[in-house]
Amino acid sequence: MKLLFIGDIMGAPGREIVKQYLPLLKRKYQPTFIVANGENAAHGRGITEKIAKELFDSGVHAITLGNHTWDQREIFDFLDDEPRMIRPANFPEGAPGKGITYIKQGEGELAVINLQGRTFLPPLDCPFQKADELVEQARKRTKLIFVDFHAEATSEKQALAWYLDGRVSAVVGTHTHVQTADERILPQGTGFLCDVGMCGPSHGILGMERQAVIGKFLSQLPARFEVATGPAELHAVVITFDKSTGNAKKMERVRIDSDHLFME
Ligand SMILES: [Fe+2]
Ligand SMILES: [Fe+2]
Repeated sequence: MKLLFIGDIMGAPGREIVKQYLPLLKRKYQPTFIVANGENAAHGRGITEKIAKELFDSGVHAITLGNHTWDQREIFDFLDDEPRMIRPANFPEGAPGKGITYIKQGEGELAVINLQGRTFLPPLDCPFQKADELVEQARKRTKLIFVDFHAEATSEKQALAWYLDGRVSAVVGTHTHVQTADERILPQGTGFLCDVGMCGPSHGILGMERQAVIGKFLSQLPARFEVATGPAELHAVVITFDKSTGNAKKMERVRIDSDHLFME
């Protein structure tokens, strides 16, 4: 059983490159489950119902979010009615939506959990304690458990992965938009990758138009960022699970850009 997990989809360029390569990735890796982080899918800020529908129609089974969850006002109207889309579970009690969902494909069922870190990000509830609660809940249903940990600090991401080693199938980070090259399987069987990266413009700064970002660093004044244009890249990871134990057997990073051409 395999999971294809796609990094933060950044605006129209991100959506386009996913649309272009998803059929090829499906053919090459034959993933059982497909999950994508959609927190930047609507022009870099949040996601709309229409965009979520397009992603589901293209074959994505579940969408995770992050600190940009609430950027589009309409999310408040549809998040509660869309069980396939989840936001970080450790938002305070009462926030719309949920932080866990299940994907059933044939014999297999994958629990997908979304959590957000607290280092250099808003002080949400404790992601470690929330993970304990949700993992216990998920293990009553399935051994296949995937965690998208939306966090800034590499230390916090490593800490959660080691904390959950042997209790979940994989912990993969999102949010930094920069893919790390540290994929591994921890001693008790949990697959880990600090950050999967993003799908979006290669020549922007984390996908945003460069001039505005550089200008903000130079001037220290507020600036409005727009999604960059030009060539795009797609970052993802394919995780192979041992169905009987729920452990990760193999972690393969996927990187498609002008320096890393897609090979069938
Ligand atoms: Fe993001
Ligand atoms: Fe983020």
